[in-house]
Amino acid sequence: MGGASIRFLGTAMVLLSLASTAKADVTLLMSDEMLAAGFDKQLLPRFKFKHRITVTPVTNGKADMAFGDAGNRVFQEIDGSEVRLDIRTESEEARRFLDWLRSAPGKAAIESFERDGQPVYTTDSATVVAEKTETFDGDKAIGARLAIVHCGRCHVVDDRNRMGGIGSTPSFAALRGRENWSDLFRAFWSENPHPSFTQVDGVTEPFDPNKAVHVAPVEITLHEIEAITAFVATLKPRELGRPVQSN
Ligand code: HEC
Repeated sequence: MGGASIRFLGTAMVLLSLASTAKADVTLLMSDEMLAAGFDKQLLPRFKFKHRITVTPVTNGKADMAFGDAGNRVFQEIDGSEVRLDIRTESEEARRFLDWLRSAPGKAAIESFERDGQPVYTTDSATVVAEKTETFDGDKAIGARLAIVHCGRCHVVDDRNRMGGIGSTPSFAALRGRENWSDLFRAFWSENPHPSFTQVDGVTEPFDPNKAVHVAPVEITLHEIEAITAFVATLKPRELGRPVQSN
């Protein structure tokens, strides 16, 4: 009897300690302006891809982190003030977010953000820190299948559709040869021509019903994009030198 309950207590404690090492979500205070412009949708999914940490934006109240004029330098408005990240928690997740914002992929995410076709932020004053080696947690096999289904009608994915794809569209092997290939894949939906036909569950806005969609839509989740990225990691990069210019 006593032995059993001690064993039970032991199990409960192991479970408790497992629970406390699981990655917790963290909240981030962002201005209404940032949210209205969609900066959260640019930044937070990309960070989640890399680190599996969900950062939830809030506009008021107590938050674990805050963009504002206090704390660590991270970036600045192109024609204005600095934006800093104030960390108000001991959690390691917040630290990871700061490191990511200062890493090359984080800076790329900040600088490629546009409002009305114009860049908004620059990271010039921030220092770059090297990110730890990249890991690909997605399911390669699922990614291989999804890549053919969703991307294979325009891109040559691999030998399976070697003769497929559309003329000038870069092959996956060629894209894999680019230095920042994983960022390109994780964010492909934000780069032309994809936004006109791609919807990412919970990330992109629904298609404008007044605009005709000429291409069959690609509907995909962040999880599926991570799987495709893990699959692309297995492809042999093809070095093409400088891109061939048509006409
Ligand atoms: C309807 C055609 C079409 C589909 C479907 C499509 N792409 Fe593309 N993609 C293109 C074209 C065209 C380009 C080249 C754009 C350019 O260079 O301006 C491109 C470029 C890219 C790039 C390079 C982006 C960059 O910044 O240089 C990536 C990465 C990419 N596609 C990934 C994907 C993935 C992943 C899928 C499937 C989930 C996909 N694409 C589906 C047409 C397509």
